[in-house]
Amino acid sequence: MYSEKVMDHFSNPRNVGELKDANGIGTVGNATCGDIMKVYLKVENGIIQDVSFKTFGCGAAIATSSMATEMVKGKSLEEALKVSNIAVMEALDGLPPQKVHCSVLAEEAIHAAIEDYRKNQA
Ligand code: FES
Repeated sequence: MYSEKVMDHFSNPRNVGELKDANGIGTVGNATCGDIMKVYLKVENGIIQDVSFKTFGCGAAIATSSMATEMVKGKSLEEALKVSNIAVMEALDGLPPQKVHCSVLAEEAIHAAIEDYRKNQA
């Protein structure tokens, strides 16, 4: 039921852990399933130089956080904000319908981390 890409990112997630020198951190959760996702960003000159995540959740949540962090790395904040959950799902060759909300969590976590970074700069 899961694509090879989902299984790959679930089994070997990229960018796992805390970023010690993060300057933007976003935490989001889904009240229904109880899963939690935390994204760490290191932003310099408007570019995401480094990114990592910690996800307490299902396999699809781990796979989507892994892929989403890969997709925003090296991007400007504006470009990163355009990385939608649909784009993350497409990059993973799809998700079962009941797992779409896991990709939404990944998009929300990136957005929350960018918001936090912007707040820290204000
Ligand atoms: Fe809720 Fe996957 S089941 S994030």
